[in-house]
Amino acid sequence: MRPTRHRARSQPRPSRRRLLAGLPVVGLGAAALAGCSQAGATTGVDQILSISLNQTETHPSFLALTRFGELLAESTDGRWGARIYANEALGAQQEVIQLVSDGSVDMAVISSPQVENLSLRFRPLSLPGAFDSIEHQTAVLRDESVVGELFSSLEESKKLRVLGGFTQGARHMYTKTGPITTPDDLAGMKIRVQESDVFLELIRAMGASPTPMAYGEVYTALQAGVLDGAENNEVSYVTQRHDEIAPHFSLTSHLVGLDYVLANTDRVGTMSDADQEAFRGSFLGAQEEFVRLWIQETDASTQQMLDKGVEITEPDADAFGERIEQVARGFLDTDEDVALYEQVRGLAADMEATS
Ligand code: GCU
Repeated sequence: MRPTRHRARSQPRPSRRRLLAGLPVVGLGAAALAGCSQAGATTGVDQILSISLNQTETHPSFLALTRFGELLAESTDGRWGARIYANEALGAQQEVIQLVSDGSVDMAVISSPQVENLSLRFRPLSLPGAFDSIEHQTAVLRDESVVGELFSSLEESKKLRVLGGFTQGARHMYTKTGPITTPDDLAGMKIRVQESDVFLELIRAMGASPTPMAYGEVYTALQAGVLDGAENNEVSYVTQRHDEIAPHFSLTSHLVGLDYVLANTDRVGTMSDADQEAFRGSFLGAQEEFVRLWIQETDASTQQMLDKGVEITEPDADAFGERIEQVARGFLDTDEDVALYEQVRGLAADMEATS
C-alpha cells in the first residue's frame, strides 16, 4: 500500500493569515503552547521562538531544529524554546524571509537563492562549483574569516542575522519520462527551479526549460503535467514524494546547495547576554546534529528510492561539466564576488592538500 502524503495536495493549505493571527511581533506567547506536546515545539518555557520551515516533520532540518529548541530550553533554564512550523505552513521561503525581516516570524530556514535575491553579496555561495562536498561547505560555514562579515551584513538593513547553515547536499535532476544522460535528453523539458537568476541560467545551460516555482507547489505541478521534472537532493525527493510522479533520477550533482538559518535581530536582542550566548551555542549544537542526520537520511532515502523502483542513472559527466562551470564564471560580477569565491575555492584546495 502506498503511504499517504504528509498533506493531501488537493486540500487547501491552512490559511496563513489565520496562522499568523496567533503570532504577534514578539512571537508566540507561552500560553499558546503551554501543555502542547506537538512535535517540534518546546514545552513549558516562558518564550517561544517561531521557526518557519518548508520541509516535512521527518526532514533532518525539522529534527535538528527540534533539537535546537530542546538545547535552548535546557541552557536558558526554560526561559526560551522554539516551535517549528513545517510544510510551508507560514508561507513559501520568498514570503517568509520578509516575515522574519519584519519580525512577524522569529526564525526561518531559507535556501541560498532566496537570500541571494535579497543581497547579491551572497551569490558566490549559490554558484555551481562553489562547494565540492558537505565537508568543504561545513568548513566554509565555520570559517569566520570567510563568512563572518557576510553573515552579519543584513543586520542593519533587514534586521536579519544569518546564524549559519544546513547543507542541501548535492542536487540532481529527475523527470517523469526517461533517464537523463546528456543535455539533449532535457531538450524541451520544463524543469522546476528555485526563483533565482543563477538557477534559471544553470538549468538552461543543462539543456532544459527552467520553470521557477515555490517548493510546496512542485508535487501538484508535476502531477498536473505543468512540469516534466525538477531537481533536488535525495532527501527532498523522497520526503516530498516526488518519486511517485517522476521516477527517473539522474545523479547530475550539478550543485552542492545550502540553506541558511536566519533570525530576526530585534527578537534575539530582547534576550539577556547570557541567553544570547546560550542561543548561539544551541544553534551550533543543532548544526552539528544536522550534519549527522543529513548523512544518515541521504543513505536511507537512496535505499528507499531503490526499494520503490526509482531508476537511478549516472549521466555523462563530460557532457554537463563544462556547461555547468561556465554558469559560475558568468555570475562573478564584482571584485568582491571573485574574492569570496576564491576564498571558498582556496579552502577546498587546502583541504585537498591535507587529505
Ligand atoms: C531543498 C532545500 C530547501 C529548498 C528546496 C527547493 O529542499 O533544503 O530549502 O527550498 O530545496 O528546491 O526549493
